[in-house]
Amino acid sequence: MAYDDLRDWISALDRAGELRRIRAEVDPVLEITEITDRVSKSPDGGPALLFENVKGYRGWHVLINQFGSARRMRMALGVDSLDEIAARIHHFLDVKSPEGLLEKIKMLPMLAEMGKFFPKTVSSGPCKEVIRRDDFDLLHMPVLQCWPKDAGRFITLPSVITRDPRTGKRNVGMYRMQVYDARTAGMHWQRQKVGAEHYRDAMRAAASSGVSPAGPVAGVDLMARSGGGAIEPEGERPQGKLEVAVAIGTEPALTFAAVIPAPPDVEEFMIAGFLRHKPVELVKCETVDLEVPATAEIVLEGYVDLDELRAEGPFGDHTGFYSLEDLYPVFHVTCVTHRKRPIYATTIVGKPPMEDAWMGKAIERIFLPLMRVTLPEIVDVNLPVEAVFHNLMIVSIRKSYPGHARKVMNGIWAMGQAMFTKCIVVVDEDCDVQDLREVVLRTANHIDPERDIQFTLGPVDSLDHSSRLPNFGSKMGIDATRKWPTEGFTRPWPEEIRMDEATKRRVDAMWKKLGID
Ligand SMILES: Cc1cc2nc3c(=O)[nH]c(=O)nc-3n(C[C@H](O)[C@H](O)[C@H](O)COP(=O)(O)O)c2cc1C
Repeated sequence: MAYDDLRDWISALDRAGELRRIRAEVDPVLEITEITDRVSKSPDGGPALLFENVKGYRGWHVLINQFGSARRMRMALGVDSLDEIAARIHHFLDVKSPEGLLEKIKMLPMLAEMGKFFPKTVSSGPCKEVIRRDDFDLLHMPVLQCWPKDAGRFITLPSVITRDPRTGKRNVGMYRMQVYDARTAGMHWQRQKVGAEHYRDAMRAAASSGVSPAGPVAGVDLMARSGGGAIEPEGERPQGKLEVAVAIGTEPALTFAAVIPAPPDVEEFMIAGFLRHKPVELVKCETVDLEVPATAEIVLEGYVDLDELRAEGPFGDHTGFYSLEDLYPVFHVTCVTHRKRPIYATTIVGKPPMEDAWMGKAIERIFLPLMRVTLPEIVDVNLPVEAVFHNLMIVSIRKSYPGHARKVMNGIWAMGQAMFTKCIVVVDEDCDVQDLREVVLRTANHIDPERDIQFTLGPVDSLDHSSRLPNFGSKMGIDATRKWPTEGFTRPWPEEIRMDEATKRRVDAMWKKLGID
């Protein structure tokens, strides 16, 4: 079931009893966070909140916690179970070449469905109801200051749209934006993200076209200077711009698609089309050569200068700590378009669980079939919310050969944003990775630490405050599978304690009489 826009989604939440309208006056500075944090910490993640009386922002409504429960996450994606999406992905990945006309005919519905993935450009849409080329100020929107020591106000749920200067393909990524003043904001795409790669590609293009006074810049040198990173060598940077558009308040499948760690060449507009079984409608921007969702509540158009970095942060982050100040590109706004009486969609991050925990869990489920394409031995995966996803991945495998657990660790570290995984625990297929008690029991019992823990070095999440260097550090893999003689383990491996079925049945039959319950 596809929602037409954010308003349609809000109505659905309301009908399902998943929304609370808050009519009391509430300050976007800290107060909305404190309220939402308390709600998020309730056992099922609490309801979505629509603040209808935001202090200093008459007429504005603020939506928060829209994805903040398992039920709402399923509703957002129009499914009864997230496994349905995984099964659909599997179905598309499992296509065999058709033999004969009949098999080709059978494929037609699938091809028709694939047609719905592609976005459609339309001539206009509600996001153009108001077009502001001059009279705008980013702080006309009720942007939150989330936590007391944040560097300022941050746009936290933006879908940031860029175009790859080489291929023309678009990317939509969710990168927070610190509002500096009326017309500029930080562009916090971390260096391993696709927006940052488009930025580097624009630098490469500027350097090689000779536009830049820096002239051609060696690729490796350019890489070192091309993202955030306070300790990086500061050199001359090529001049030029990368156009950027930002959509705030889109229908939920698209907002969610902006978070999905998709392969760089897969447009998130297509992912959203896949998720909602309906194409995303796009309209052209007014001042930049980009397209934006036609029904977005708010669109910011602008650019980042290739030779400008500015301090961004600190910001109370999803790790539960403030991410440190660092240098990032600056987004300059050239035009703002919005719906009449726009609804500002936002989120807060902080100590888990928060709204993003539910989004992360959905990604975990949806990505499992994709991980299995490269690592078919994977049975299940759990990224515990408390470890803020990238710090711990527990994975069960069908072990088939010596060293198999280590192969899986290395495969995961080589797979897109899973590269950030600080600790991977690999268990055998008969261990339920969703049962943390079982995982701890197995891991603690099954390892000889010196033998079974593997360290490696590589890129780490920019938010990691403990790595030896920003963005670079170590990772740990724990092989908690049963050890085999062919892995050099020649002692007998003990059997797990399990009661026999006959005794269980006898005790089941006598249970009531025992008077224990
Ligand atoms: C609420 C929220 C805020 C996020 N903020 C950032 C951010 O500021 N910078 C960043 O690089 N990633 C951030 N992420 C994670 C990215 O959205 C995610 O890595 C996504 O896959 C990036 O898209 P890309 O692969 O197209 O670059 C955030 C995710 C969520 C859910």
